Amino acid sequence: MQPINIGIIGCGVISDSYLKGAARSAYITVKSVADMRPEAAAAKAAEYGVSAAASPEALLADPDISIVINLTVPLAHAAVNRAIVAAGKHVYAEKPLCASFAEAKELLDLAAKAGVRVGGAPDTFMGASHQAARRAIDEGRIGQVIAGAATVLSHGMEHWHPNPDFFFIKGGGPILDLGPYYVTDLIQLLGPVARVAATTCIGNPVRTITSQPRAGEQLKVEIETTATALLSFACGATIVLTASWDVWKNKRLPFELYGVDGSMLVPDPNFFGGSLEISEKGGDWAAVDITGHPFHLANRELRDGRQVADYRIIGLLDMAAAIQQNRPHRASGELTTHVLEVLEAIGTAGAEKRWVDLTTTCERPAAVPQGVGEEVFAA
Ligand SMILES: NC(=O)c1ccc[n+]([C@@H]2O[C@H](COP(=O)([O-])OP(=O)(O)OC[C@H]3O[C@@H](n4cnc5c(N)ncnc54)[C@H](O)[C@@H]3O)[C@@H](O)[C@H]2O)c1
Repeated sequence: MQPINIGIIGCGVISDSYLKGAARSAYITVKSVADMRPEAAAAKAAEYGVSAAASPEALLADPDISIVINLTVPLAHAAVNRAIVAAGKHVYAEKPLCASFAEAKELLDLAAKAGVRVGGAPDTFMGASHQAARRAIDEGRIGQVIAGAATVLSHGMEHWHPNPDFFFIKGGGPILDLGPYYVTDLIQLLGPVARVAATTCIGNPVRTITSQPRAGEQLKVEIETTATALLSFACGATIVLTASWDVWKNKRLPFELYGVDGSMLVPDPNFFGGSLEISEKGGDWAAVDITGHPFHLANRELRDGRQVADYRIIGLLDMAAAIQQNRPHRASGELTTHVLEVLEAIGTAGAEKRWVDLTTTCERPAAVPQGVGEEVFAA
C-alpha cells in the first residue's frame, strides 16, 4: 500500500490519539493540522513534528491531502464534514458522524455525488478482542444470540475534560458520545438493528466542572444523561443498552451476549483489546486467545493506570487501503449513519414512550483478517 497524506481538522484532546497513531503507521503521513484556534493547531504541529495550516480552509485547499479527519466537537461535525466533501476529499470523522441523523443522510448524499468516501469512528470493533468475538459467534460457539446487555455507566466527563461543554448539549450525552462504541460493536457481531424502545432522563440538570482550567464553573445539562434501551436486532436478538453519566459506582460488566448454546463476555468496546470469555453449554468460563488477531497489545495507560490497546486511526487506514484496493471500507458512512439513527431513535423512543422502527440498515463490516498488525490491510 502506498503511504497516503492526510490532514486533521480539530486539535483538541483526542487529536493526540490520532497523531500518535499516524506516527506509528507506515502508511499514513499527517501533512498538516488545522483548528479554528490557530494556536491549538500550532501547538500540536510543534509537538508531533507536522506542519500547521493557517486555517481549516487552507488545509482543505492543499492538493496533496486526500483524506481529512474531522476531530472537532459534535455540533461542528456536519459543517466541517460538508466542507471536506466540497473540497473533493474523503472524510473520516470522529463520532458521532454528525449531531443528527438528518445531517448524516445529507452528508452521504453529498459524498456520493462528489465521488468521495465517508468513514468514521469508532474503529475499536476492528480490535483483537472484538474480532475474536466475531469469529467465535460466526463459528457458532454460543449458537444463535437471543439476548444480552451492554452497559456504560459513570459519573460524567466534567471531572477530566478541560472543555466538557459539548458533552452536555445536543450531539453529546452518553447515548451519542459512548453509545457508538457499543452499538457499532453489536452491529458487527449481530447485524443491523430493526427497532428501538427506551426510557431516558436527565439525572443532574446542573453540573459543576472539577477539571482544570475551569474548575467551579457550572454547566446546564441540555441532553439526556441516562438511557435504558431495548435494541431489537433484525437477527432476532434483543439487547438491553444502559448508558449513563449519573451513576457513581456499579459492578456490571460492559458487554454480555447470551446464545442458545452458550454465553460470551466481551471487553469494553471503547478499546481494542481486553479479556474475552466464553462459556459453552454451562461449562466454566474460558478465556479466548486473542493474540492471533491484530491490535491486541496494550499501548496506552489510562488516567486510572489501566493499560489498554488503543489503535484509533486504523479505521482510516482501512479506508485508505480500501480506496487503493477498490473495495468497501469497514468503518463506513453507511455503518456510522445506521448507528446514529439507532442512537437518535433511543432519544425519540424515550421522549415519545414508543417503539421506533429504523429506516436504515447496513451490512456487517467484513471481518478483519488475522495477522500481525496494520499490514493486514496492505495490498
Ligand atoms: N476526548 C476524548 O477522549 C474523545 C475520545 C473519543 C472520541 N472523541 C470525539 O472527538 C471529538 C473531539 O473531542 P475532543 O475531546 O478532542 O474535543 P476538544 O474540545 O478537546 O477539541 C475540539 C477541537 O475542535 C476545534 N473546533 C471546534 N469547532 C471547530 C470548527 N468548526 N473548525 C475547526 N476547529 C474546530 C476546537 O477549537 C478544539 O480545539 C468529539 O467528537 C468527541 O466525541 C473524544
